[in-house]
Amino acid sequence: MARPELAVVILAAGKGTRLRSRRAKVLHRAGGRALVEHVIRAARPLGVPRFVVVGYQSDRVSPLAAALDAKTILQEPQGGTGHALQAARLAIEKFRRALVVPGDAPLVRTETLAALVQAHQASGVAATVLTAVLDDPSGYGRIVRGADHLVRAIVEDKAADAAQRAIREVNSGIYCFELEKLWASLGDLRPENVHRELYLTDVVALLNRKGERVAAMATGDAKEILGCNTRRELAEVDALFRRRKIDELMAAGVTVYLPETVLVDPDVEVGPDTVVEPGAELLGATRIGPDALVGAGCVIADSEIAEGVVIRPHSIVISSRVGRGAVVGPFAHLRDGAELGAGARVGNYVEMKKSRLGEGSKAMHLTYLGDASVGRETNIGAGTITCNYDGVRKNPTKIGSRVFIGSGTELVAPVEVGDGAYVAAGSTITDSVPSNALAIARARQENKPGWALRRRARIAAPESAPAPQGKPSPDPPRPKAKPSRAKPGRAKRPRAAKSRPRRRP
Ligand code: UD1
Ligand code: CA
Repeated sequence: MARPELAVVILAAGKGTRLRSRRAKVLHRAGGRALVEHVIRAARPLGVPRFVVVGYQSDRVSPLAAALDAKTILQEPQGGTGHALQAARLAIEKFRRALVVPGDAPLVRTETLAALVQAHQASGVAATVLTAVLDDPSGYGRIVRGADHLVRAIVEDKAADAAQRAIREVNSGIYCFELEKLWASLGDLRPENVHRELYLTDVVALLNRKGERVAAMATGDAKEILGCNTRRELAEVDALFRRRKIDELMAAGVTVYLPETVLVDPDVEVGPDTVVEPGAELLGATRIGPDALVGAGCVIADSEIAEGVVIRPHSIVISSRVGRGAVVGPFAHLRDGAELGAGARVGNYVEMKKSRLGEGSKAMHLTYLGDASVGRETNIGAGTITCNYDGVRKNPTKIGSRVFIGSGTELVAPVEVGDGAYVAAGSTITDSVPSNALAIARARQENKPGWALRRRARIAAPESAPAPQGKPSPDPPRPKAKPSRAKPGRAKRPRAAKSRPRRRP
């Protein structure tokens, strides 16, 4: 059987101490995906078997690899990038070459990986290193070239002398190896460095010693090789991804104002002529139709927003669906399966959870709809609350079409309101309302004529006058100034008592 040509080996077993994180570096996210996901995705179109070397937090890294059809290889413990290849040997021995890519270089593009393999195959060398020339090469391994332009060695930043440190051509950590030749040198690695690790980079000098040739291919775009070793680099890489995505949207006809303030995840789709205002976040599997508006500061995640929808500023829409021409917000909160029919309207301080508002229905102010279904052209008055939780379970509320729910209504679920019914404002509805009925469920109002006048008079008068002593005093003590005299026997009258109305009207 012919020897399979190429395997991709992605190194993702390290912890990444410079991030100062308990989480493995490759699990950190930039541009809406874990770093290692970007790398696996970049390698996927090459159409060759992919292996991910896992170790630190392998239980969390492996599922990401599996989801993208990559096999995993366990490296335990993690003894450095050279050790990672030793760990991979058994799994990839049958291949002729390996393309090695670090799991923390998420910006690398498929075309660049393909070009490296191409250049390597064409030159017939033992190994080819992808390099880049950086203005600030600190932290990266330096490429030491000979007079023939071939690579003599890669010197890690910490081991470099002053002359080497001045070299601006750096190692991307991406290589193509002839595996027979790699294996012949890999066993000679020694952990003679500050980290006591086996460095894959040392293989370059070892190959040279055996008379093998190592070539370099420089990338056009140095950004592509940026690793995410620090939080700062992570933020830079994230910004580059975000910018790429927004450029794509704008090229496809989406208007984005102040694009640097807008965050869009990679799988989000937006139709042409939709406008996205500053500070909006479009996340996860969100799809937005054409001619829509996403207002300033909105967060939309995993939701379907139809054509012509207006989402006014500062609304949160999560795992929800908004039908054609519906209007949401400002300050609305749709979540966990909220659904708006075409032309429905949800206004400020309205929360909807697992609820449907039918076509043309409205809930414009200060309302909570949980586990509710509302028909068409129904009006939900301000301050309506579905009392869906009884302390144990969530109960449904069903409201028909062309219903009028008066303001301040409480609907104690489970309960139903039939088509065309009216519910009087301020009602607490505990029993179902038949179609076309009026339900009124609140205490009847009682008016007490003149009550307020009597109350004010009482407040103005001293609470108890001192016992008369002969003729009345021309200048009676003011109760406010000397409360102790107004109520003999008590040291101090509590202040709050003065403003509290008497119990009996
Ligand atoms: C490495 C290179 C450096 C290069 C830089 C480019 C070495 C010794 N140095 O440095 O020349 O400029 O990448 O970004 O290789 N990993 C394992 N197992 C381990 C250790 C690491 O799988 O035992 C993985 C890590 O998870 C990471 C990748 O290998 O994804 C690179 O390791 P990292 O520690 O980031 O290497 P750098 O110090 O950046
Ligand atoms: Ca790195």
